[in-house]
Amino acid sequence: MNLTLHVWRQKSPADEGRMVKYEVTGVTDHASFLEMLDVLNEQLAAKGEEPVAFEHDCREGICGSCGCMINGEAHGPMPHTTVCQLHMRHFKDGDVLYLEPWRSRAFPVIKDLVVNRGAFDRVIQAGGYVSVMTGSAPEANLTPIPKSVADRAFDAATCIGCGACVAQCPNGAAQLFTSAKVSHLNMLPQGQPERYDRALSMVEAMEKEGFGACSNYAECEAVCPKGISIDFIARMNRDYLKAKAMAASKAGAGG
Ligand code: SF4
Ligand code: FES
Repeated sequence: MNLTLHVWRQKSPADEGRMVKYEVTGVTDHASFLEMLDVLNEQLAAKGEEPVAFEHDCREGICGSCGCMINGEAHGPMPHTTVCQLHMRHFKDGDVLYLEPWRSRAFPVIKDLVVNRGAFDRVIQAGGYVSVMTGSAPEANLTPIPKSVADRAFDAATCIGCGACVAQCPNGAAQLFTSAKVSHLNMLPQGQPERYDRALSMVEAMEKEGFGACSNYAECEAVCPKGISIDFIARMNRDYLKAKAMAASKAGAGG
């Protein structure tokens, strides 16, 4: 199939960037979306033009690095599908596609379709871990976890940190990502000792990074390739409010 692509080209973070039109030819419908971009880049390289920069690693839907906007939708038109798992059989000959990097003040563009998602790393650094004493790892079977709790924690843990939730949100909010990362630990027994500190510090880190505020559009849930539920946002907000109340009562009691 042949496609017309309008691709965001931006040489560097300082460049103001612009959409550029390309015709890409001879794409098979067995190709993945990223393989279609590989074909485009081979055709650009053959003409001596600069290839389009796009990010990827696993190409199997687990690393979270490959996202971009396709016709205004984060990760494109297929639900629960990352760009690398999107296949060209879902498009047709002659389609016109607009490709843009994630839209968010907190994710500055590095080049073309590649953005800096370091803000997510800093949110994780603020509390997305369980502190352990040094020594050998605890025996996993000594901490029984009800299956319903393990399943729910696993649902949150499937977040791949791709950033689609932020990119699609009209506010550029990162609540879905942050709540997934807070919740998968806060629901487990191992996460209880740091539960409220974790909620407080990760939400505060998120706010410092310049993400917008959540006003329940739920666009995040609609585009999340892992189907993370906005229920986790409510859960995070409850832990965060309790953490604030605990901190206020501690301050009122003189420390
Ligand atoms: S919550 Fe979903 S959309 Fe957001 S970063 Fe995690 S996997 Fe990506
Ligand atoms: S390249 Fe890893 S999720 Fe797409």
